[in-house]
Amino acid sequence: MRRAYTSSAQPAVVLMAPAPHGGGMDFIDDHLPPGPARVLDAGCGDGALADRLRARGYEVTAIDIDPDLARPGVRIADICGFRDDPYDAVIFSLSLHHVADLDAALDSTGALLRPGGRLLLDEFAHECADESIADRFYAAPGSLPRWRERHREYHAGTAMVEAVARRFAITSLARVPYLHRYLEDASLRDAESVLGLQLVAEPRPTARPPT
Ligand SMILES: C[S@@+](CC[C@H](N)C(=O)[O-])C[C@H]1O[C@@H](n2cnc3c(N)ncnc32)[C@H](O)[C@@H]1O
Repeated sequence: MRRAYTSSAQPAVVLMAPAPHGGGMDFIDDHLPPGPARVLDAGCGDGALADRLRARGYEVTAIDIDPDLARPGVRIADICGFRDDPYDAVIFSLSLHHVADLDAALDSTGALLRPGGRLLLDEFAHECADESIADRFYAAPGSLPRWRERHREYHAGTAMVEAVARRFAITSLARVPYLHRYLEDASLRDAESVLGLQLVAEPRPTARPPT
């Protein structure tokens, strides 16, 4: 049985833990370089994704800033300023919108990726919710202001994409359904098709000095 996902959003519909990583796992499977490869899961939460990738032969470092999440296989660290040997891929699964300093997090990512490595962003563009999505989420008319207030503290999808584009070459960008990962109401999958954001990017080749 899936555990209830706690959220201060207090929606009228039942929030569930994603099962497991919902549509995000397909995205990650499709875009991770083949294993074995060195992968950083930045903002790993409970480490479930990292465990799944390890079981497939990836060498995964899973970090999270929340000390309550410490366990074998999860290191407590802030992605901002985190340094290590180069990675073949850095994944942010629903974590980049939470990071306080977007620019510092992506600067770290740039320093951590080897040339040709990949940034995988499986994210959430909260600003794309409209009245119908907010009203269905809270099961009450007029809920868009409540939705906006609830998500005000998080980075918007456009801010994340722009910050990535300033540093990396984006090779793939898709808007996908999102809320169905969390809500028991599967019909929301059709009602909202734009909240999810799945992006792949690579470090830009460094310019060679003139000879
Ligand atoms: C919504 S959870 C996502 C967890 C997991 N990646 C998933 O897909 O279920 C966001 C996580 O990002 C972590 N986080 C926020 N800021 C961070 C930072 N600067 N460095 C590392 N982790 C951070 C939070 O502690 C939280 O566990």
